[in-house]
Amino acid sequence: MLSGSMRVLVIGSGGREHALVWKLAQSPDVTDVFCAPGSAAIAQIATCLPIGVTDIVELADFAEKMKVDLTVVGPEMSLALGIVDEFTKRGLVCFGPNKLASELESSKVFSKRFMRKYGIPTAEAEICTTRGEAEAAVKKIGLPCVFKAEGLASGKGVLIVVTKEEADRALRLFFDDRVFGSAADRVLVEQYIDGDEVSLMVLCDGERAIPLATVKDYKKVFDGDRGPNTGGMGSHSPSVILDAGTSREVLMGVVGPTLKGMKEEGRPFKGILFVGLILEKGLNPYVLEFNVRFGDPETQSVLIRMEDDLVPYLVKSAKGTFTPDLRPVWKKEAAACIVLTAEGYPGGFEKGRVITGIDEVAKEEGIFIFHSGTAKNADGQWVTSGGRVLSVCARTRGLSEALKKAREAAERIQFEGRHFRRDIGAKAIEILRERTGSGLA
Ligand code: GLY
Repeated sequence: MLSGSMRVLVIGSGGREHALVWKLAQSPDVTDVFCAPGSAAIAQIATCLPIGVTDIVELADFAEKMKVDLTVVGPEMSLALGIVDEFTKRGLVCFGPNKLASELESSKVFSKRFMRKYGIPTAEAEICTTRGEAEAAVKKIGLPCVFKAEGLASGKGVLIVVTKEEADRALRLFFDDRVFGSAADRVLVEQYIDGDEVSLMVLCDGERAIPLATVKDYKKVFDGDRGPNTGGMGSHSPSVILDAGTSREVLMGVVGPTLKGMKEEGRPFKGILFVGLILEKGLNPYVLEFNVRFGDPETQSVLIRMEDDLVPYLVKSAKGTFTPDLRPVWKKEAAACIVLTAEGYPGGFEKGRVITGIDEVAKEEGIFIFHSGTAKNADGQWVTSGGRVLSVCARTRGLSEALKKAREAAERIQFEGRHFRRDIGAKAIEILRERTGSGLA
């Protein structure tokens, strides 16, 4: 590839992919950005292609024909299906783990066994294939516990069970009603660990890791961390909750052994290793889960803070050629992201509700709007087309100000049934006030 004439393809269509396209398009090395399938919003800054994220061969055909220099994969499903293997076979550069390495996310049984084998701190769990085994596991582990479908279930295959009635319901859902289908052919019944949920995203090249700016997401749908889990209702960077000391501990105690272990298993890990952790009071961080791709909405907050070009990081990750001088520079300002969702989400929701205010708010200094689930109607208006609708992001001096700015921007975007959390970052601000006597990050 020639510097200044690169063609880049992004796979996916949500807020994370909109942020990736936005960032990659700013690279001085990039002339063309394609996105498959993309969205009406992404089409404003890239060429969108009518190819689905699971159509691996068609995606590779396109990349080959158009001489795409770098492909960046958003969704875990494409990775689990082996998109990186297909592209690599054809000599194409594709950022992300191959199919075997993706099992860290696509098989919770593989990842649990892997963590046990390599001494990575994780909760006790039983692997169950029948209702009887799961009943016995609940007795052995005790309540509260967690039911986890082994496979990919669009972030929905995890249930925290506190009471006997909830355990009965989980047994019914997982084994009798089989609501998660074959993703729950094997189910982990896991010890529940109480604490703060945090995550760390690191770029990996098969051997080495480069941590991204710290970021915290919020999964519960309602204020006060109540209600069902979602894909993510907001994020901010820096994380605050995961401090520098604990990040270092996670790099040494989790990321290092994971990269070493994956290499030993013949599955060297390239791409984003996204470690989901629980910080039990006063104890070591435990790994809740691994994801093998950029988080959504974590990516939105991280990328608006990234000072340098993302392209060299992704290319060198895919080629396994990280060098010690590769150290991302982050803007000193803080970033916040508030996700606007449709009424009913994460359950059923209506589509096609007209949205007002997006384009006006997007023009403001320090505001970045990434579209998670929108479309244009026949009259050219923005309408809702997903459960998560918009990622409204702000970047400014201090976390408290960034959160306030994002919240105020979110208030000004309207659609019927609009919902968003007003307390994203509240706990982080409390911690900052205790630490420094002010709300500035
Ligand atoms: N925000 C959580 C995830 O991307 O899985």
